[in-house]
Amino acid sequence: MFTVSILTVSDKGSQGKREDKSGETIKEIISQMDARVVDYAIVPDERDIIAKKLAGWADNDNVDIVITTGGTGLAPRDVTPEATLGVVDRIAPGFAEAMRAERRKKTPHAMLSRAVAGIRKKTLIVNLPGSPKAVRECLKVIMPALPHAVETLRGEASECAETQKVIEGKARGKEKCA
Ligand code: MTE
Repeated sequence: MFTVSILTVSDKGSQGKREDKSGETIKEIISQMDARVVDYAIVPDERDIIAKKLAGWADNDNVDIVITTGGTGLAPRDVTPEATLGVVDRIAPGFAEAMRAERRKKTPHAMLSRAVAGIRKKTLIVNLPGSPKAVRECLKVIMPALPHAVETLRGEASECAETQKVIEGKARGKEKCA
């Protein structure tokens, strides 16, 4: 079981002018995992406001994963990646690499996402693009890696090779192989 906080970054959403379907989509998908959503907020595309929220959740709520949606593109007010990079201690490029690589198979627009991921203390922060469709596509890609990411962050994963064997065993339809 791990905890998740959801931050929707949208000028219109924060003014109540747009329904937050992307945030709802994340909640729905996360609720199908062994995970609990503990915080949720909508903020405007303002770097300082985004950064304060991310840092606050990581430092005070000790949440395992913060997922953001929106503000990752090339539009003038898109600053979610910069806000994220401003608060993380270490980067975790594999999440964004995987999401873009998968989407790139379908459309060159994948290159427009500047999403990043990183770690603040023991919290993993991952940016997702803003549309519900993109949220679904991206979560599908990263979800299989999240439980082990949390174990590793918490320092619970003592033997990565064994965990890998279990994952591979499950993929082959076996219950356990280690
Ligand atoms: N990634 C996935 N998986 N699916 C998508 O539909 N849309 C792209 C890109 N990444 C997309 C995606 C497009 S068109 C844009 S402009 C960027 O994400 C920026 O998204 P954002 O500014 O809404 O965060």
